[in-house]
Amino acid sequence: MTRDNASYQGALGHYLSPRRRDPVKTLMEEEVSHKIFASAVRRLRLPAGRPLRVLDIGSGVGDGFDLLTETHGDLAPVAAAHRLDYVGLDGDPDMVETATALHSVPGATFRVGDMRDRLPDGDFDLYLSCGVPYSHLTTGEVTEVIANIMRRILDAGRRAAIIVDVLGRFSIEWMSNWHSPRWNYAMTFFEDTTERLEQQMTFFDRTSLGEAIAAAARSAGAQPAELNFTDRSILVGRHTATGAFNPSIPPYRTLINDLVRDPSSVSLRELYFEPPRAGAPPEILHFFRTLAGSWNEMLDQAANSGKGIRALASALLRCETREQRGLGVGHSLTATVIIDAS
Ligand SMILES: C[S@@+](CC[C@H](N)C(=O)[O-])C[C@H]1O[C@@H](n2cnc3c(N)ncnc32)[C@H](O)[C@@H]1O
Repeated sequence: MTRDNASYQGALGHYLSPRRRDPVKTLMEEEVSHKIFASAVRRLRLPAGRPLRVLDIGSGVGDGFDLLTETHGDLAPVAAAHRLDYVGLDGDPDMVETATALHSVPGATFRVGDMRDRLPDGDFDLYLSCGVPYSHLTTGEVTEVIANIMRRILDAGRRAAIIVDVLGRFSIEWMSNWHSPRWNYAMTFFEDTTERLEQQMTFFDRTSLGEAIAAAARSAGAQPAELNFTDRSILVGRHTATGAFNPSIPPYRTLINDLVRDPSSVSLRELYFEPPRAGAPPEILHFFRTLAGSWNEMLDQAANSGKGIRALASALLRCETREQRGLGVGHSLTATVIIDAS
């Protein structure tokens, strides 16, 4: 069977651009990822003093390493760089070369390899992913990769965590594609590059990702001890700024970034959210109605009082993260799976 291979040729400019770390990313997205990683590591109950052993799958230029070792807001690093035994795996040699150059610390190595092939040897505590690398695979391939990791964990005989990061099926960024779980996705949000990447990608909701994980567990003979899901960037995904797939929604990400940089430049009216009324299962539509209620109420309060506009961007981002239920309604959906060895 032929396999689609991701090509990120030309995307390095985006990953290295300082403009990629916009306020939405630094104020909210990085914190959400940090909390997911920290929570997974806490659940491992590792012996004090032992380095954290991480395999970052689809590591790109090494954001996973940075997310683990840097502070985010008030949050202390998940692991100090010298307490990390980190291997990044990526199919793109340019990404690996750049990641290696950016992370010349003893505990970090980056390797070229396809996650669908044999994974690097090692007994890892955390099989990390971020930036939706699993969405490059078909659902069947995702299942196989997760099953292989589960077998590896069972063989190693120790509790470990798998973090599976994918694109959310029911993001408002691509409402016209909600009917299909796999379609041609253009990453037109790339900064500082003229390249346009187009690839078939797979989009998941909680049900389909949960089914893939359950099928992997059956195939590996594993029993997930814990499983939870997190939606990230529900109204502020990068494609709300490009309008590439849904030009009829306000550019929420741009508006929130502007609200942080210069509150007087934003008309609050533009930020109101009209929830979608059809095209998704009732649970998803109900979620959007609830989110709209909380989000729009915050805008009403800010408009009526005229106070607190400066803090409004953070409050709206917090509203998103508080309301999320891990349904597959954000730009990304992250599953955390804890596997016990016995
Ligand atoms: C959007 S990037 C995310 C990179 C990084 N984790 C981050 O958060 O910025 C997805 C990465 O997955 C890699 N990738 C895609 N398919 C892969 C595969 N089958 N095996 C290994 N890496 C893959 C790509 O080369 C790319 O670097």
